[in-house]
Amino acid sequence: MFSVKDKIVFITGVSRGIGRAIARGFVEHGAIVYGSIRNEQYKDELLKENIYPVIYDVRNFQVAEKTLLPIYEKEGRIDCLINNAGISSNTPASLFKEEEVRKIIETNFEGAFFLCQTYYKLQKKYKIKQGNIINIASILGLVGTMLASIYSGTKGAVLQLTKSLAIEWANSNFRVNAICPGFIETDMTENMQKREELKNKILENIPLKRLGKPEDIVGAALFLASDYSSYMTGQYIVIDGGLTCQ
Ligand code: NAI
Repeated sequence: MFSVKDKIVFITGVSRGIGRAIARGFVEHGAIVYGSIRNEQYKDELLKENIYPVIYDVRNFQVAEKTLLPIYEKEGRIDCLINNAGISSNTPASLFKEEEVRKIIETNFEGAFFLCQTYYKLQKKYKIKQGNIINIASILGLVGTMLASIYSGTKGAVLQLTKSLAIEWANSNFRVNAICPGFIETDMTENMQKREELKNKILENIPLKRLGKPEDIVGAALFLASDYSSYMTGQYIVIDGGLTCQ
């Protein structure tokens, strides 16, 4: 039951970071992994790792169906959709310009929603009687912090989207869950990692006394994609070294 062998998985944002680690983890466990990238740059290195690259910018959701169709034509189904692509910002709330706000909302929230919708419709079209969605949210969808107003808002929205879709699509045998990472060592947190004082302050508050690694997120994704989590929907798993438990 804890197997994802031969499952067809589509993950957004696999060029690096958490998305890449999740893609690798699924390949290692025998899944057939399609991963979205925004341009050709990472194509060859992904292919070397047996991750099938798909060019797709999640803000371009008008072409979501066209993007997923070739996978359906080849594999007949997608067993699990993982919405991982995301962007953050350190802009103070008082200084945000509309363009940046729109970009974060389109990437983190609308991008995830429209892929969920497209996935649901295509599973129906191809007469697949189930579906499984994992949204990568954030602990900042649960709590707030400095300089995270819009990012935090989109991640909270992703969590509520997860719960609402779980209810709305339960009759169609779809499960929809989320993962909330804490501070993970990726390009997204590079600025924080470079600022020794800030990093130490964050570490002081993390009971496990270290930042997370992208690989720390993989186990939860495998679990949620596997049949071991078959009675679980509308939930989130927090992976933050204990930061938000106090
Ligand atoms: P990252 O910046 O290393 O990677 C983000 C990935 O998303 C990249 O592959 C990038 O190309 C892709 N991406 C960004 N905009 C895109 C778009 N419009 N279309 C397609 N792909 C796009 O970041 P990281 O840390 O790996 O983040 C992955 C997810 O985890 C994000 O949703 C992020 O919000 C979430 N997260 C990260 C945390 C961290 O501490 N690193 C903490 C909590 C959540």
